[in-house]
Amino acid sequence: ASAISQSGIANDSAWHRPPFDRHRRLRTTPALRALVRETHVGLDDLIMPVFIDETIDGVSPIASMPGINRFGLDAVVDEVGRIADLGIRSIIVFGIPKYKDAVGTGAWIPDGIVQRGIRAIKAAYPDMVVIADDCMCEYTSTGHCGIVERQEVLNDESLEYIAHIAVSQAEAGADIIAPSNAMDGYVLAIRSALDDAGFVSTPIMSYAVKYASSFYGPFRDAADGAPQFGDRAGYQMDPANRREALREAASDEREGADFLMVKPAMAFLDVLRDIREASDLPLVAYNVSGEYAMIKAAAANGWIDEPRIVRETLTSIKRAGADLIITYFAKDVARHIRDHEW
Ligand code: PBG
Repeated sequence: ASAISQSGIANDSAWHRPPFDRHRRLRTTPALRALVRETHVGLDDLIMPVFIDETIDGVSPIASMPGINRFGLDAVVDEVGRIADLGIRSIIVFGIPKYKDAVGTGAWIPDGIVQRGIRAIKAAYPDMVVIADDCMCEYTSTGHCGIVERQEVLNDESLEYIAHIAVSQAEAGADIIAPSNAMDGYVLAIRSALDDAGFVSTPIMSYAVKYASSFYGPFRDAADGAPQFGDRAGYQMDPANRREALREAASDEREGADFLMVKPAMAFLDVLRDIREASDLPLVAYNVSGEYAMIKAAAANGWIDEPRIVRETLTSIKRAGADLIITYFAKDVARHIRDHEW
């Protein structure tokens, strides 16, 4: 027998494993909880969407997205200044054109609303990372994300336009191109076009896993991009499918995507986790308009505590595997961080 057992210490109850685990030990104080916290949401994780509207001067509120506005070309640079002052370092821009047509001309002409907006923003705030959404639905008279013939959205014919949009956005100064049009082969088409135009260093953030979701409802008000017939189920993914998301992500990675995105976020956290485990690319989650509207509406009724719900939501999206989150809450979060309320 060792000296210790002889001393009687080994027989003391302290040497026996307790009958249950005391998980609460690490939760006793705020400082201790902070020490063991596994997931953090900070300003560098957040991307703020910005709507630039060719049909207005100044600022126009979006009814279904309280706190979110459309900005005229005269007002958008000031808004980006406010975003920058809050410490947010990246935005994603969407355009609302004055004229729509069958081939979405407003999306790719050099003096299109997004191209002019990007030029103005980059001139005033060269360090702001400006991501350009590459899609046609806000610019086509059909409201669809590609070229339509006989009620069908054509894949290969649309790719040429989508690539052309990307190059015009890069020429305007966009730092990242984010195709959201859900055509097959768009990453390859855009990568080739950007490289040919000399933009070999412009990354592609692919909306690789984009579901045909009802959570985009308020955005379609905001960006005036609702389909004029049918829906997007022929090109966006069925929300019922999980394995298909892996195939979508694999294709885009193979074609040269620099970031992968899952959209929407809250109802698709399992998919985020799957893509996180399948790919080492930076992973983006889009916390979409409907997710924003639901929280704002419930908070306006006093039914939920908005800042806490927002923190829990964004933390969960990161915990599921996202590195970055596109969210309409980005400015709100930045204010909470600034005011030490986060
Ligand atoms: C364009 C696009 C959409 C969103 C982002 N880019 C709409 C859609 O696919 O119908 C939705 C974003 C949101 O709901 O916040 N295709």
